[in-house]
Amino acid sequence: MNGGPTEWEWVPEASAIAREAGAVLREFFSRGVETEYKGDADLVTVADRTAEKMIRERLAAAFPTHGIYGEEGTRDRLDGEFRWYVDPLDGTTNFAHGFPQFAVSLGLERRPFGLAPGEDGKLVAAVVYDPMRDELYVAERGRGALLNGKPIHVTQTPELCESLLATGFPSHKRHQNPNIHFYHEFCLRSHGVRRAGSAALDLAYVAAGRLDGFWEFNLNPWDTAAGVLLVEEAGGRVTDFSGNHFRLDSREVLSSNGLIHAELMGFFAYMFAGRNLSPIPTPKEFAAHRAARAAKNG
Ligand code: 2AM
Ligand code: CA
Repeated sequence: MNGGPTEWEWVPEASAIAREAGAVLREFFSRGVETEYKGDADLVTVADRTAEKMIRERLAAAFPTHGIYGEEGTRDRLDGEFRWYVDPLDGTTNFAHGFPQFAVSLGLERRPFGLAPGEDGKLVAAVVYDPMRDELYVAERGRGALLNGKPIHVTQTPELCESLLATGFPSHKRHQNPNIHFYHEFCLRSHGVRRAGSAALDLAYVAAGRLDGFWEFNLNPWDTAAGVLLVEEAGGRVTDFSGNHFRLDSREVLSSNGLIHAELMGFFAYMFAGRNLSPIPTPKEFAAHRAARAAKNG
């Protein structure tokens, strides 16, 4: 790491752990995930759980007092000053289909004593590892962000119409998510909106200047904790859709290079105020609608 090992407090250990978990994912991935996808205890679940178990053991050994909050159910020592948010496999749908875009995400929050359970502390360290590209993104608060050891910065794109954006959609109950309306709107107002399927990597790409902005609804802290700090340490901005301070339990994340942030928020306000954002019907509702129409037409 830049500046020698004493300068970085948590990143060297966490990087080694993320790389090791990434190797576990690569191994499962190379065995051909899609063929086993439909099984009961399918390989995706096994990969997720195997990686989380390994991360849990390695983090506990490296930082015995730190808490761990993981996507696959780990809830260890959550009353302490430090808490790791762990996504052992962000981009599960991609992984299951053999689409090589997924990552390990480790984000560290420092929670001063006396903080209420629902209050956020400060994000202090971030590691996102893309095992298929061997790309390691790291940051610590106040020390900047690096990609494979080199400093990264957000873009300087000044306007939305020149921007490349990203967003994402949930894997479950997608019809209940209004994001398709925003996807449509921003596709028409930018150079394009990618939806590559890993929120942790989308945020890392904003940090690395590969994207100018990213938004999504309903993410969880294990998806966002590391990526949010990467963006901030790379000089970008992360808020909710109205510009309020980002919170780990927020249902909204809006990140950008900072320069296009106000313009993005303006479109969110416009969309929420004036447009019909009703979700598309569920398959069941759609079938009922067709049946009713068929009955009416005799
Ligand atoms: P996952 O792959 O770890 O499930 C897709 O843009 C992003 O949303 C991914 O980071 C994905 O994480 C996450 N995601 C998938 N399904 C979700 C859901 N039902 N609720 C919230 N986030 C979800
Ligand atoms: Ca995830």
